[in-house]
Amino acid sequence: MNVWLVGAGPGDPDLLTVKAARLLAEADVVVHDALVGGGILALVPPAAELIDVGKRPGRPVPQELISTLLVSLARDGKRVVRLKGGDPFVFGRGGEEAQALLDAGIPFGVVPGITSAVAAPAAAGVPVTHRGVAASFTVVTGHRRAGEHEIDWRALARVGGTVVVLMGVSQRATIAAELIAGGLDPATPVAAVQAATTGDQVTLRGRLDELASADVRSPAVLVIGAVAALELTGVVAPAFSGGR
Ligand SMILES: C[S@@+](CC[C@H](N)C(=O)[O-])C[C@H]1O[C@@H](n2cnc3c(N)ncnc32)[C@H](O)[C@@H]1O
Repeated sequence: MNVWLVGAGPGDPDLLTVKAARLLAEADVVVHDALVGGGILALVPPAAELIDVGKRPGRPVPQELISTLLVSLARDGKRVVRLKGGDPFVFGRGGEEAQALLDAGIPFGVVPGITSAVAAPAAAGVPVTHRGVAASFTVVTGHRRAGEHEIDWRALARVGGTVVVLMGVSQRATIAAELIAGGLDPATPVAAVQAATTGDQVTLRGRLDELASADVRSPAVLVIGAVAALELTGVVAPAFSGGR
């Protein structure tokens, strides 16, 4: 396999899969996103090349450029890890890169990662489903580009269950207003989990009609629904490796 599209999980290096850690240790080149933190990049051998293609405000990296880079590194015979935050196929544009590799005839594999869509709520003690409270959860992006399908928030309000929004911070006022217009109770609990599983994790809690004015910072996952009132964190247990 020349290229691996690898999920890095939500941030905590302990949440990498065993396969992801092994591939990082064997890589010649690691092409990574902005959301992949230093703790994970520290697992890359010093001899390997690190290429940061993270898209940041004011510094967009065209997707075609990334796909072309992966193809060209693979053709040079490099063992390439394309490392993406969370899961590569959950709003990670991993599908587009897989398609480009397929079109170029480059062998590749996909390693799923723990998506922030479930890891961030869990880190805040919020189960996305909970017997008698939420029987389903919908994961949706709050970020739309011109020409892409609009999200029908009003329809989503009628689906029931938990709504988990990624990339929703800048649009939170519209999202809240549309969900309320669609019938969600303005008092619906909301949890906004910022920088989940990292040393900077912060959880803000409130009601849906308070979301617009809440001081939420990216990256954050918005959890909307009755489960967001739960905080099942308990007493933090020491890591097993910490011994007794
Ligand atoms: C481009 S999407 C990538 C999602 C990623 N593929 C995944 O499965 O988690 C980026 C968004 O993921 C969410 N996100 C990723 N990591 C996060 C974290 N550690 N804490 C909170 N939100 C996170 C935020 O909503 C952020 O805007």
